[in-house]
Amino acid sequence: MVVEARTSFDRRSAVSLFARLRTAEGQADPFPFYAQLRAMGPVVAAPWGGLLITGFDTCDRILRSREWLEPDQRWRAKQGPRTRWNAPSSQEMSNTLPALNAPDHTRIRRAAGTFGRAALERVGRTVSRTTDELLDSLCEQLREGEADFVPTVSEELPVAAIGEWLGLPTADRVRLRELTHEQVFTQELLPTASQLARSDAATAELRTYFMELVRQRRRRPGDDPVSLWIHTFDALEPDQDAADRAVYFLALFVLLAALETTSTLLSTMALRLLEQPLHWDLLSADPALVPAFVEETLRHDPPTHVISRVAAADTVVEGVEVAKDAMVHLMVGAAHRDPARHPDPDRFDPERAKPDHLAFSNGIHYCLGAPLARLEAQTLLHHMVSRLPRLTLARRPSWAPRVAFRRLENLDVALA
Ligand code: HEM
Repeated sequence: MVVEARTSFDRRSAVSLFARLRTAEGQADPFPFYAQLRAMGPVVAAPWGGLLITGFDTCDRILRSREWLEPDQRWRAKQGPRTRWNAPSSQEMSNTLPALNAPDHTRIRRAAGTFGRAALERVGRTVSRTTDELLDSLCEQLREGEADFVPTVSEELPVAAIGEWLGLPTADRVRLRELTHEQVFTQELLPTASQLARSDAATAELRTYFMELVRQRRRRPGDDPVSLWIHTFDALEPDQDAADRAVYFLALFVLLAALETTSTLLSTMALRLLEQPLHWDLLSADPALVPAFVEETLRHDPPTHVISRVAAADTVVEGVEVAKDAMVHLMVGAAHRDPARHPDPDRFDPERAKPDHLAFSNGIHYCLGAPLARLEAQTLLHHMVSRLPRLTLARRPSWAPRVAFRRLENLDVALA
């Protein structure tokens, strides 16, 4: 709740702005809406309550501060029984890493481990081989005419990578991908009742899947992370059922976190490459620019445009008083275009000196899978510019009507 605002809040204009933003057309280019939002002030009251923040430095500071918390179980319970926060899918998510605060978060994050060099090397071999296979399949389709890059490449690579890492059967990949598309609604900014119901159903199926996986790995452990987590949590939890649940929540969130986000990064990166033939020439001539191209894609249009936090105590943001437990939505997609942080922010410039971004968040919740996402994006880009003939966009792609989690639904390409 805002006690006092330095700016006068015009809730009606924010309502119409968000109504347009959450359509497919709005998602095709959300940046003019963000510019309008920024013009309304550094802190804007959201139509549904809470505050919207567009400044890069303020978003960054909040993410790194211990004075801002994740909306955890305690916070969700306080929102009341008929709110989105108490939907079964939201309750389930409240047990996963990005909904935990210290000290629970510290304990689970430590147990989760990191992407070490050995794991990255192992998954890297799968990523490289799969990228080649997917581009072969793309080329085959292109010989007949057009091909859709999204189902052929960008949705396949992340599920192959995370499937390899977690040791999931190849046959399960299609269903897991479908379920993550359904599940994401509960993590969206403004889910409808029917979207929440779809998310609840997907969450229930994912629970059955991963609880069974944990039982199997307990019976036949391997050298995969799920078996490793069972070992770690057995040492932390006296109760075996509690240990199994902890492993399930970790595996569930890793899958959810890894698929759509990375697919969106790969699709957006390909879109930037195709939109501007000069970029293709630039990268072919100087492949050392590949990592910078990936970082600029993450800055220019990150897969996640909103990250939310709640105030741990009464505080002040940009001169606006914010009460304990009030929610702020960090409009990361907008913050990345903050002219105070990046000169000429709308321009996609793979040679930008400092493409700082918050695409992987910041502070204690910094994305655990960032090294894997970067590895996939860089591998794909290297392979594309080195082995594909120049491609062109067959038509403008369409975007899913959402706000927080960007998703390109198609990316039809043809030979140039
Ligand atoms: C381009 C791809 C990706 C993007 C843009 C992305 C973005 C994010 C963001 C924004 C957060 C923090 C949310 C918050 O602060 O509340 C996060 C957390 C997380 N991500 Fe990613 N992610 C990506 C890929 C991955 C992959 C591939 C994995 C797993 C292998 C992964 C696993 C996680 C986990 C476990 C967390 C929770 C960390 C915590 O709360 O301590 N992510 N990610």
